[in-house]
Amino acid sequence: MKSPVRSSFFLIEGRFPQSESNFVIFPTKLFCREVPVHQIKKALSCMLVVACLFLVAAGSLWAKRQEKENQPAASSTAAAPLDYDFFKTKVEPIFLFKRPGHARCVVCHTINHVPLHLVPLSPGSTTWNEEQSRQNFELVQRVVVPGSMESPLLRHPLAQEAGGDPAHGGGKHFSSQDNPECLTLKAFVFGATLKAER
Ligand code: HEC
Repeated sequence: MKSPVRSSFFLIEGRFPQSESNFVIFPTKLFCREVPVHQIKKALSCMLVVACLFLVAAGSLWAKRQEKENQPAASSTAAAPLDYDFFKTKVEPIFLFKRPGHARCVVCHTINHVPLHLVPLSPGSTTWNEEQSRQNFELVQRVVVPGSMESPLLRHPLAQEAGGDPAHGGGKHFSSQDNPECLTLKAFVFGATLKAER
């Protein structure tokens, strides 16, 4: 180890003027003696590990910040859960109600296979029994985004001018969001309960 260091020392010293040689050779010697190749490798791998740790730390910091930024939105969409009793007493009657110029929701939505599919009424029955209502409550969740006006249940039967979707195979049953039935559907989507109603 020693002789190559020394020879490079003399080689370099011979090439440069005296004043500059000290300056050049000193770090050369330091480098050769004190940092053998395996230590350089070690140092490099340490740097790699540190760099990775830094990236991970930065990444998690960034994720935390994103989380914070999203929090106000998240807390407003982390809406109250849908309430079954409200659904059964307030929403199901809307599906059964006959509006002039329109078929009842139940007529189409028990026979077609669109996202809103309800349990067919039992023969001779004008309403759903407890078990069927429970099933409907599960089924209706396919068209509800809790706490969101974007819920298809709100937008689909609502006229486009009033903020609804452009088209609905079953026609536009409601011309305004202030329609009492619309308000009931909205209350349901936003987690209303019967207690809060009274
Ligand atoms: C004349 C038949 C008919 C009637 C009545 C009807 N619909 Fe529909 N509905 C459809 C058809 C067909 C589709 C699928 C095509 C489409 O999305 O417009 C649909 C789709 C939907 C969807 C699913 C949207 C999605 O996510 O794809 C919702 C929600 C909906 N209707 C709600 C209602 C409500 C609430 C009523 C009663 C106020 C009602 N419909 C009455 C025929 C009907």
